[in-house]
Amino acid sequence: HWNVDKSGITEKNYPQIKEAAGLIQAGEVVAFPTETVYGLGGQVKMDSAVQKIFTAKGRPSDNPLIVHIAERDDVDNLAEKIPDYAQKLMDAFWPGPLTIIVPKKDGVLSELVTAGLDTVAIRMPDHPAALAIIKETGIPVAAPSANRSGKPSPTKAAHVIDDLNGRIAGVVDGGETGVGLESTVVDCTGPFPVILRPGGVTQADIEAVAGKVGTESGMKNKEETPKSPGMKYTHYAPEAPLYLIEGTTAQIQQKINELRAEGNKVGVLATEESRSFYAADTIISCGRRADLESVAKSLYGALRSFNEHPVDLILAETFPSEGVGAAIMNRLEKAAGGRWLKKVD
Ligand code: TXA
Ligand code: MG
Repeated sequence: HWNVDKSGITEKNYPQIKEAAGLIQAGEVVAFPTETVYGLGGQVKMDSAVQKIFTAKGRPSDNPLIVHIAERDDVDNLAEKIPDYAQKLMDAFWPGPLTIIVPKKDGVLSELVTAGLDTVAIRMPDHPAALAIIKETGIPVAAPSANRSGKPSPTKAAHVIDDLNGRIAGVVDGGETGVGLESTVVDCTGPFPVILRPGGVTQADIEAVAGKVGTESGMKNKEETPKSPGMKYTHYAPEAPLYLIEGTTAQIQQKINELRAEGNKVGVLATEESRSFYAADTIISCGRRADLESVAKSLYGALRSFNEHPVDLILAETFPSEGVGAAIMNRLEKAAGGRWLKKVD
């Protein structure tokens, strides 16, 4: 567990970066901060290193990993047939919370990274510690979020330790991450970009650069295999079942009262604006509704903190699916596994 000041990489913390990079070079796996969430990094060429990532997380082997790079030139070493619009997206949003899916070059990566697909996911993170570790490693670094599979992604080193202590070589502690939700994943293998996973870079941001943009849900029916294999798994879930609930605070309170009358301990995922309107067993705010970026930043930490309280179920407020709200609702719907409590009239 090494501390690295978020303000940047200095002479004082560089030995820790070098130690982390040395472990990754040697085939170990190390967690480090990015601007989105903490990642669990392993070098992309060694099967045994990539296998350690899957084992530590308990991740299904058919769910491919994102390759993290520090130099734009590395894209050409990893991928081919990169469309113009993808170049524009990289120009506009890298380093930053955007992952592009492009056709991979053969023989460059361990096959385990791409889980047998002929495409590769690539991103350049916007965090001094992540960039320094990748540069120092000298090989691109495969890094999924550093949580046990199915849990909310880690936004603090303490979350990584809760999930992976004893299963990984170490964690570089850069404090709390910025965006708080994972990168936007964009399929760049077709005539126009298609958003497979909404994230910090919004649909409007991508449209402004690339014109027409598709979204996976709008393009595919539910029976088809998802284009992004990770989308089919339940994710981001606290231990108690979570239900999305629509309605006014008074309507939600009525539902809370009914559930408590039936003997349930009820948790509420609220906002700064609404928290004082509820009476329940546990009330946790995930940020300010008036500032959805604050909700993105706090959501996973809020979901995790329910595990410290004895609740039988959690009711979660919903958010408008616009801008970063699309990413927030995507994660909340996954955490709920499709459970909704409809408006109480
Ligand atoms: O912000 C992030 O993206 C974080 C930080 C650590 O960089 N990483 C992250 O990785 O969220 P992970 O493994 O938790 O999510 C990667 C997503 C999964 O849904 C996976 O299925 C999808 O990207 N993916 C990876 N390679 C793909 C490919 N070749 N085609 C389609 N989807 C792919
Ligand atoms: Mg993940």
